[in-house]
Amino acid sequence: MTGHPTDSTGPREQAREWLQAARRPLVLTGAGVSAESGVPTFRGPDGMWRGHRPEELATPDAFSRDPEMVWEFYRWRRSVLRGCAPNPAHVALARYESSHPDLLLVTQNVDGLHRLAGSTRIQEIHGRLMIDRCSACGLESDASPRDEADRRIPMCGSCGAICRPGVVWFGEPVPLIGSAFEAAGSADLVLVVGTSGVVEPAASVARVARSAGAEVIEVNPEATPLSALSDLSLRGKAAELLPELLS
Ligand code: OAD
Repeated sequence: MTGHPTDSTGPREQAREWLQAARRPLVLTGAGVSAESGVPTFRGPDGMWRGHRPEELATPDAFSRDPEMVWEFYRWRRSVLRGCAPNPAHVALARYESSHPDLLLVTQNVDGLHRLAGSTRIQEIHGRLMIDRCSACGLESDASPRDEADRRIPMCGSCGAICRPGVVWFGEPVPLIGSAFEAAGSADLVLVVGTSGVVEPAASVARVARSAGAEVIEVNPEATPLSALSDLSLRGKAAELLPELLS
């Protein structure tokens, strides 16, 4: 894959060609890919919860100070997610995997919608919203809708300590980032969809791939810090653009 769009090839057509020809594509997704499923983005107008920014609640400090409030925030996020289903962007990415078996989908999303749509080659680097993880022994279990109604903090079935949501919080290490960087280093194309590109180390997945020579395509209605390193920046909604680009 070489070259940049010319007058005869529009950016969308060029993106389609690169995506079809890619042998080791890497897709990096963020909250914008789930926006049209009804999942609020973090930095959009619906991202605040009772006047708090997620960065204030999604931290180990907030959890040790006020686990009730942190759990209330996550119960809210879970109850919103229970009403959401994958949208055409998730479905298009799952189909793309069947024609590109060496694809890796690195997602910052904790909503599980990529898996629900059928993606299997996926790294959920920020964890999973619908998992409870014991804060002491680390045992993980599926969250049940009952927990949201019941409003008590879930307790570990094994050691009895309080559980936390199975997500990565600000200030915590991202366990899967090493293998995501490794895949980025050998990718020939990166498709960056629906991320503001301001949270590290996730945003650097695109940077690592770019430095190693991959072409970068961005899909986002707005410019982001990753636009400058993208070969093609396509402005639009994921659920509208991805089915067209990946068909
Ligand atoms: P953000 O909320 O920061 O950014 C969402 C991005 O999606 C923005 O750039 C929007 O312009 C774009 N967007 C909105 N609607 C879209 C649509 N229909 N189609 C495509 N793009 C759209 O979300 P993330 O970048 O995912 O971390 O945030 C990164 C991390 O910060 C999250 O994983 C989370 C958060 O705090 C943790 O929880 C650790």
